[in-house]
Amino acid sequence: MKTQVAIIGGGPSGLLLSQLLNKAGVETVILERSTRDHVLSRIRAGILEWGAVDLLREAGVGDRMATEGIPHDGCYLTDEDLMVHIDFRELTGKQVMVYGQTEVTTDLYAAQDKMGTQILHGVENVSIHDLDQSQSYVTFRHEGEEKRLDCLFVAGCDGFHGVSRKTIPEEKRSEFERVYPFGWLGILSHTPPVHDELIYSNSRHGFALASMRNENLVRYYVQVPLTDTVDDWSDDRFWHEFSRRIPSEAASRLVTGPSIEKSIAPLRSFVSEPLRWGNLFLVGDAAHIVPPTGAKGLNLAASDVFYLHQALIDAVKGGSTTGVEEYSARALQRIWKAMRFSWQMTTMLHRFDGEDSFAEQMRKSTLRHLADSETARRDLAENYIGLPY
Ligand code: APR
Ligand code: PHB
Repeated sequence: MKTQVAIIGGGPSGLLLSQLLNKAGVETVILERSTRDHVLSRIRAGILEWGAVDLLREAGVGDRMATEGIPHDGCYLTDEDLMVHIDFRELTGKQVMVYGQTEVTTDLYAAQDKMGTQILHGVENVSIHDLDQSQSYVTFRHEGEEKRLDCLFVAGCDGFHGVSRKTIPEEKRSEFERVYPFGWLGILSHTPPVHDELIYSNSRHGFALASMRNENLVRYYVQVPLTDTVDDWSDDRFWHEFSRRIPSEAASRLVTGPSIEKSIAPLRSFVSEPLRWGNLFLVGDAAHIVPPTGAKGLNLAASDVFYLHQALIDAVKGGSTTGVEEYSARALQRIWKAMRFSWQMTTMLHRFDGEDSFAEQMRKSTLRHLADSETARRDLAENYIGLPY
């Protein structure tokens, strides 16, 4: 097999990159380890920066998002009954879009099918070769046969556990990591949202987030110890805990119901540098992970794709390699700013086991400062709605 850009991983990063490259006449083949059903069963975050919205539109996948997505003008950060409104619209002139990653991925698969892109599912033993040569190739096992895909470039879009990052020699990689001592238990439930905007809640019982997918589907989270499992959390226990962590004004309107999905995700900050190794480029979760508190995971994947698709089009179509040479540094600048924001949101809103009483006061005074200072709110809003590409 032969293509111009081999894409490892058919998650949102790989699909969006492929779609944008194909639209510009650059050929791709996507190699995905799982089945499509499995990829689409993963429930992930639900907030898109406007830059990501524009990029999805440019990719030709904006139609369903335009009718089913919900633009949000602001969100709340709260501490017990103190509710700080962050008015994105007033502070930055911009909005974000509530539209689940699962929907984004569904739309991208549909668009790629229409485009006729080859997406191989169930590939095993992916291995990347000759990255320092003018042409590279990827070997893998598919439907019981060993196969080889020749290409000019390889995009490593295979997530945190993928093979791409590990193809870069260990001594050439720098990794930066912080693992947080808690996870998020998330549920989906067919109930009306407790508020028309998201609520990020600091409380003495720990963090909670009230998010949503539509007017009758909520996504709610509570901070839990890493040792907890889903079996420790009956629906009743979840609702009890959630309602005591959000402000009483919101809790008084809470509608509960059976959960239709329940999962626990650990929180981590991680960056691997550089993002380029010869003809290989890392994109999205393959190169970096953020804790979900800033809603930046998918959005950072989108900005990586933005820089890389332009660079690859220039290299394949225009013969200019400036973009590919600059990709790693350009993307990393934005990645580190989102890392800082996600870490700041996480430390501002979570209880850390064994923390001293000073730490709690620092969180409270940060929230109080946000309530009193428009400058502080504008800084938060500017980061939340997404820094420019
Ligand atoms: N070979 C082929 N495919 C692989 C391999 C491999 N060795 N390893 C992993 N994959 C596939 C996974 O099955 C998955 O479908 O790569 C895909 C990676 O997808 P994601 O993990 O969703 O990562 P990405 O596409 O970068 O999406 C951005 O940022 O914070 C998150 O929620 C956000 O998941 C979103 C992500
Ligand atoms: C979600 O809706 O799943 C969601 C929203 C905002 C976040 C994280 C998750 O910061």
